[in-house]
Order: sequence, then structure tokens, then C-alpha cells
Amino acid sequence: MLAIIGGTGLSQMEGLKSAGFKRIATPYSEKRISIELCQYAGQTIAFLPRHGKGHTIPPHKINYRANIWALSTIGVKRIVAINAVGGIHKETGPGNFALPDQIIDYTHSRAATFFEDDLEFVTHIDFTEPFSSTLRAELRIAFQTVNEGLGLNKRLFAKGVYGCTQGPRLETAAEVKRLKNDGCDIVGMTGMPEAALARELKLEYGMLALSVNWAAGIGESEILISEIESHVKAGMGIVTDVVKTLIERS
Ligand code: HPA
Repeated sequence: MLAIIGGTGLSQMEGLKSAGFKRIATPYSEKRISIELCQYAGQTIAFLPRHGKGHTIPPHKINYRANIWALSTIGVKRIVAINAVGGIHKETGPGNFALPDQIIDYTHSRAATFFEDDLEFVTHIDFTEPFSSTLRAELRIAFQTVNEGLGLNKRLFAKGVYGCTQGPRLETAAEVKRLKNDGCDIVGMTGMPEAALARELKLEYGMLALSVNWAAGIGESEILISEIESHVKAGMGIVTDVVKTLIERS
């Protein structure tokens, strides 16, 4: 089964028929994780808004382990993550999209592995390529289909390095300068440890990122939260169309 993990601005999948919620107990959370099952194009997919239904859980407080564990428990094998990001590369300005192929993790103090307690032996995973090339290719085709079909004229930066910062504050200009020097093209707060945990449970993981602002110091002015909100609002409809197209084609 395919799962969509919705980010900021995507706590519901418009146009997909809800088939109810599953509430999954996990070893990582006292509360059960609520996953919506949705039907579209003859398929059932799982939907999980990572910030919670009412968008109340900040990036550093998300229980990434419980979320990924719960998805795996109900039979999810593939995850498409939706992430709002700040643009660093010149082709990743607000309103445009990216399909990153690499990650640099700048987060700290997050529970970042399932391989921690009661181990029979120390376990490492290969993470050379953090994203599934199959899902990236499928997302690219789905995006192009929507972009051309609706004449949207949006850009897709079809590769790139996602820098994951701790948040919840946005970065300083100097921090973004460092990210740029490190090779980051976009910056967000929620890609890690989500992607690594998915790999630990052998789930395919791809990310469709929507740029909602220029990262700090890249644009001409300070970052306006109202600007972020308007790009989130405008972009998530397109994200939903891309996801639907991906489901139709798979
Ligand atoms: N930085 C980090 N995370 C973000 C940003 C940003 O500029 N915009 C949206 N998520």
C-alpha cells in the first residue's frame, strides 16, 4: 500500500474518498496513531498528516518513529512525503517544486532510530541514496502530467539536496549561507529522521517538496509568514493533483 505523509498545509486529501481511520498502537507512543484510509482510482491509500490533524505538532515534537512504525504495521510499503521548504537554489523559488535526491541532517535530539534498545547486534543501514529512485521517477512524471495538463508553468527542480534543520524557528541568513556552502538546495524541518526511519523498516520513500519562501538571506527581504501561508495554500492543490495522478498511474 502507498502512504502519503502530509506536511504543512496538507492535513486532508481533497477529492479522495475517506474509508475511515485506523488507530494503531505502537511501542513508541502512549497515544495511538490515527491513519486515514482513502480510496481513489480503485486503490486504497493511507494518509497521515505529520503535524497532526489540526496542525498542532511542531517539527521537533513529531513522533517520527511512531508514525513510520504505524504505517508499516498496516502494510504500507511506499511513502510519498509532502514537505514545505525554503528555496536556496535559484530554481527553487516560492511556488515551485523539488524532488530532492539527497539529504543533509542538521537536526539534533530527535529519536532517530528503531535500532536502539534490546538489540541482538548493532545494526546499521545503507543510506547512500536516501530517496527511492522509482518513486522519484513516478513523481516526476505525475508532476509533469499535471503541470502540462493544466498549463501551470511551474518549475520542478528534479534533484537536489534537502537540508533538514531543527526548527521550529526559521534559519538565520548565516545558517542558510552555510547550508548553501554545504551544497543544500532546499531547507525544511521534517525530512529527518522520517526518511531514515522509513529505510530502517525497508519502506520506499520519496519526497515532493513545495517551496513556500526564499530561505533566509536568499530573498530580498525578511521572510513573511503571510507569504509562506499564501504559497502553502496555492501549492497544496497542485500537490493533491500530483498525488492523484501518481495513484492513477500506479
Ligand atoms: N526553512 C526551514 N523550513 C522551512 C522553510 C525555511 O525557510 N520554509 C518552509 N519550511
